[in-house]
Amino acid sequence: MSISSFKIANKLITGEGATSRIPEELERLQVKNPLIITDKILVKVGTVAKVTDLLEGVNFDIFDGVLPEPEFSIAEDCAKVFIKGEHDGVIAIGGGSAIDIAKAVSVFSNYEGSGEEIVGTDLVPAKGAPIIAVPTTAGTGSEVTNISILSDKKAQLKKGVVSDFLLPDVAIVSPEMTISMPPSVTAASGIDALVHAIEAYISINRSPITDALALHAMKLIAVHLPKAYTNPNNIHSREMMATASLMAGMAFGNAGVGAVHALAYPLGGRYSIAHGISNALLLPYVMEWNKISCLERFRDIAEALGIQTGHLSDMEAADQAVNRMRDLCKAVRIPDGLRSFDIPEDALEEMAEDASQIDRLLKNNPRVLTKQDIFEIYKEAY
Ligand SMILES: NC(=O)c1ccc[n+]([C@@H]2O[C@H](COP(=O)([O-])OP(=O)(O)OC[C@H]3O[C@@H](n4cnc5c(N)ncnc54)[C@H](O)[C@@H]3O)[C@@H](O)[C@H]2O)c1
Ligand SMILES: [Fe+2]
Repeated sequence: MSISSFKIANKLITGEGATSRIPEELERLQVKNPLIITDKILVKVGTVAKVTDLLEGVNFDIFDGVLPEPEFSIAEDCAKVFIKGEHDGVIAIGGGSAIDIAKAVSVFSNYEGSGEEIVGTDLVPAKGAPIIAVPTTAGTGSEVTNISILSDKKAQLKKGVVSDFLLPDVAIVSPEMTISMPPSVTAASGIDALVHAIEAYISINRSPITDALALHAMKLIAVHLPKAYTNPNNIHSREMMATASLMAGMAFGNAGVGAVHALAYPLGGRYSIAHGISNALLLPYVMEWNKISCLERFRDIAEALGIQTGHLSDMEAADQAVNRMRDLCKAVRIPDGLRSFDIPEDALEEMAEDASQIDRLLKNNPRVLTKQDIFEIYKEAY
């Protein structure tokens, strides 16, 4: 077995009511004037108040300017608010978008260069202000990863800042923070978590630790995503989804994700399609491509998704895993086909060019892809 390292947020606090620990965590981290980073919807639906109500006696401000698939400019604007308000820590309350902005703001609290200079791996020079991440989707797993993904609208690309200085100091995963998610967000973010687990499980950088996390996350999501989707108030299923998302985040934060994410990035970067939907649109087609490179792993995935594989050959089990994913995406009403999103067919070639450059992710994929292979997959997914 080759050497592997494992890194996550410094501390995880999970379970219903976990947010009640925020005041003591602020004290432990010696944060006296936090900036809450969130979006207007989460303020409006009362999810942010679930935290601010707990902050009696704490001096804090709220930045609610995060937008989905956020651009670098939002991180820069938020960093100005952070510096002007002399804040000393960030509390992200939101999905991956708010958490990723909070990670970038933490960097900017201790770095004067441009966002562009830190795109890539290990280019952040130093740890910034403490980060407390409170996810409201289940989800990206961003609360435990060392990545911030931001959109560069001009280049029509999504770019990753990857550095262990981005690992949150505390991840607070509390299912009641996800109750207000509408079914469409439950579906998209839940499929994202499932893709994290599947891609981590077949990644060439996997380890026995990431395998265990990924497999259990798949099992939980297969059972609880349909339940949380059909009954948003089912707190048990919300808790299982939040836990699965966390576990999938720990898995992919170390094993990496692969071709589904690489091919999904141009959909987000060029057409602002939500991250979870972009992944879902490509997942069955990339699974189809990958399956012969690791059939026995696909058998495990089929079992984790609830398929009895005893009587099946590896190939049959792998086919059933792919079909189960199609059925699950359909059940949670994720549209099929890139054409449903008004992507012009003649853009596929440029998208393939963009995706083929995302070596950071493609290098984890179990089967090698050329630009032509990517183009063919886009055509099938069209
Ligand atoms: N850093 C990482 O490790 C990582 C991993 C995967 C994805 N991402 C990034 O995360 C972003 C996507 O994050 P996301 O899928 O969590 O969605 P999101 O944060 O973009 O939120 C999507 C929408 O759902 C709303 N929403 C979120 N939680 C809600 C709640 N509890 N109640 C009501 N509305 C709610 C938001 O207001 C927003 O309008 C993308 O930019 C993606 O690239 C990051
Ligand atoms: Fe993702």
